[in-house]
Amino acid sequence: MNVILGVDIGGSTTKIVAFEEQERVLDCLQVRAGDQITSLYGAIGHILYKCNLTLDQVTAFVLTGVGATMVKGDIYGIPTYRVKEFEAIGKGALELTGFSETLVVSVGTGSAFVMASEKECRHIGGSGVGGGTLTGLASKLLGETHIDAIVAAAQKGSLRQVDLAICDISDEEIPSLPPHVTAANFGKVESTASKEDFALGLINMVFETVGSLAAFACKNTEIKEIVVTGSVAALPMAQKYLDGVGMLHGVKFIIPEKAIFATAIGAALLYFSEFQDEAGSITALEIT
Ligand SMILES: Nc1ncnc2c1ncn2[C@@H]1O[C@H](COP(=O)(O)OP(=O)(O)OP(=O)(O)O)[C@@H](O)[C@H]1O
Ligand SMILES: [Mg+2]
Repeated sequence: MNVILGVDIGGSTTKIVAFEEQERVLDCLQVRAGDQITSLYGAIGHILYKCNLTLDQVTAFVLTGVGATMVKGDIYGIPTYRVKEFEAIGKGALELTGFSETLVVSVGTGSAFVMASEKECRHIGGSGVGGGTLTGLASKLLGETHIDAIVAAAQKGSLRQVDLAICDISDEEIPSLPPHVTAANFGKVESTASKEDFALGLINMVFETVGSLAAFACKNTEIKEIVVTGSVAALPMAQKYLDGVGMLHGVKFIIPEKAIFATAIGAALLYFSEFQDEAGSITALEIT
């Protein structure tokens, strides 16, 4: 069996997906290492071991993500391709949802917004608010840097202890602003607010920010279903807090099952559609 390895080398973690040549996903995994080269080679070794494969069964590597620029030439002498991250984000999201057109929000270390259709994937912008914001602020506010510890704390937290809601500042019903809606994230930090309340407030702030930006980007378009990918999309409270934003704006947020691996999957699929016929040659580095 021959395999293609799609690798998304992000600012925080490396995601790898093994595809059988016939475009079937064999397995995916995520690794985190101190530097991107170590995490790339660690991910390759780990997935080969996990799938019981040897290196000579790998016919191509397809790299994407910010860290792909660090890797020069071929990996282990095997043809190594680079694809634009924004195209991989769009392609992966369309594949995982079956949509033909959507807005994709990749929430990783930061957040990227890509208008994706079968014809083209267009980067419409980004936000510095993402998972890096969450872990960075949590390190100071909670003394926690590990995502699992931050999530575990948040599950016991209450937003009423930290956020200012519309009902805190207005007695009157405002038609477009239900009373429970956030007026200011961390706008009402109680003296009794705990580490757990801060953890939930931070997670909610990230989802409310990226969710609102995505909803605004879809105003005056036909898009009513927005796809959210990246590791942050896989946090257990993602759907709940994005649904809150979606209700306000009349859009729905869809988190596909393999949201963490969407970009790596998209990279490998771009290989099948763009490079397969010319396998053996290397394209110019095309990371943007
Ligand atoms: N298992 C995990 N390991 C590390 N971070 C995680 C994990 N699960 C969720 N996260 C959160 O996700 C963020 C990283 O997300 P992701 O792996 O999608 O980003 P990335 O691809 O490395 O970055 P970018 O796409 O912005 O270059 C972290 O900042 C953290 O908040
Ligand atoms: Mg990423």
